Amino acid sequence: MLTIDGRPVAESVLVEVAKDVKKFTDNYGRPPHLAVVNVGDDPASAIYLRNKEKACAQVGMQSTRHSLDKERSQEELDALITKLNSDGDVHGILVQLPMPKHFSVDAVLDSMNPLKDSDGFHPENLGLLMSGRPRVKPCTPYGVMKMLQHYDISVSGQNVVVIGRSNIVGKPMAQLLTAANATVTLCHSKTKDIKKFTKEAHVVVVAAGQPKMFDASYFGPNTFVIDVGMHHIDGKICGDVDFDSCKGKVKGISPVPGGVGKMTVAMLLRNTIDLALIQEARRKL
Ligand code: GUN
Repeated sequence: MLTIDGRPVAESVLVEVAKDVKKFTDNYGRPPHLAVVNVGDDPASAIYLRNKEKACAQVGMQSTRHSLDKERSQEELDALITKLNSDGDVHGILVQLPMPKHFSVDAVLDSMNPLKDSDGFHPENLGLLMSGRPRVKPCTPYGVMKMLQHYDISVSGQNVVVIGRSNIVGKPMAQLLTAANATVTLCHSKTKDIKKFTKEAHVVVVAAGQPKMFDASYFGPNTFVIDVGMHHIDGKICGDVDFDSCKGKVKGISPVPGGVGKMTVAMLLRNTIDLALIQEARRKL
């Protein structure tokens, strides 16, 4: 059984990003700059943001944290995004999700300059992805595609199942796989008999958001399982897939931690340097 380890793949992406960051910094006299926005006090978000900032430092990218406590209003958040949109020194903006309930994700994304959308969540960037001419790709699905390529798991002509239909993982994941010539089935909480689809699939990407929901009974011996889930339970981290149950019974599986998580961070930095280059090229026109 193959352990689909995300760490060496993420490291190789970061090495490439670091080279591009160095070239950018030499050319423009300053590094690419990611503004990181934290709204509220979600403990898991605090860990993810720290990891993203550490990765920025590793590749020589500048990051600046903007924190809004949970009592702040949507108007205050909009004002911050507007300020970052027009700040010529900022190339990428990331608003960590989830936010406290009285904030609107849609409003935040609508107000963001799509050329600074490091996550690739803005409707314009998702529309470009749907149209087959992506500008930036949502980081987690982009990272999953890189992992599949790295381990020579070809999806062309294969049946691939995605579980979960979120805007940030499931839907763009299905789009990227389709663009790579997979035949994609998108399953979700209302799908009847998920096993009927997953047992026969070449690859299953699980982004259901339910800890350890999927055990070995869901998968066939020839299936590669990519676990996008990330849950903090009793001081431990686990995914949507019950790794121990599947060990040795599937063709390959990505662990949590050590799987997709590191890829999400690496692709965020890939997107940020790509956007920084687009913005600087436009400034010259
Ligand atoms: N929350 C969970 N995943 C993500 C992500 O990729 N980006 C942001 N901004 N928030 C998230």
